[in-house]
Amino acid sequence: MKRNILPVLLLVSAIVFGSAAVAADNNLIVIQPVMQKLPAAMQDIQAKSAAKDYFGAAEKFMDIARLFKSLENVVPTNGDKAKWDQTHQALINSAFKGIGACGAKDDDDIKKAISDLAKYKDEGHKLFIKQ
Ligand code: HEM
Repeated sequence: MKRNILPVLLLVSAIVFGSAAVAADNNLIVIQPVMQKLPAAMQDIQAKSAAKDYFGAAEKFMDIARLFKSLENVVPTNGDKAKWDQTHQALINSAFKGIGACGAKDDDDIKKAISDLAKYKDEGHKLFIKQ
């Protein structure tokens, strides 16, 4: 009976570590193209709001909300899914608040939305990138 334990342990660890590796690979396929677009989108918001182009800035906030929405189902490799669900929602809400601030032409609230996005970006990176 004892002799059966080793192969079973090997199989279980192969499944556990194998699925973690598959999750990490799947994440990268989804995340990398998004990461290539986000820095430019954040800079565009700053440029458009500095130029008082509130319509253009609102469009960029919506682009960012869409990009984050596409990350809804990625699985954190460095934290738990519940925390990611929370951070993910906070990112989208910050982008929506940015759109509201554009509607109100409120430069301070636009800046607040941008700094919230940067804050939740750092939280997102902590959940997915080993420091
Ligand atoms: C405004 C928000 C964000 C910006 C501007 C941003 C920007 C970037 C940039 C420039 C990189 C490549 C350089 C580096 O490693 O630092 C990167 C990598 C990465 N980001 Fe983000 N990011 C944002 C939000 C997020 C969020 C919410 C997640 C959560 C899924 C995330 C996950 C990652 C991952 C996993 C990598 C590493 C990708 C790889 O290994 O190639 N990022 N991000």
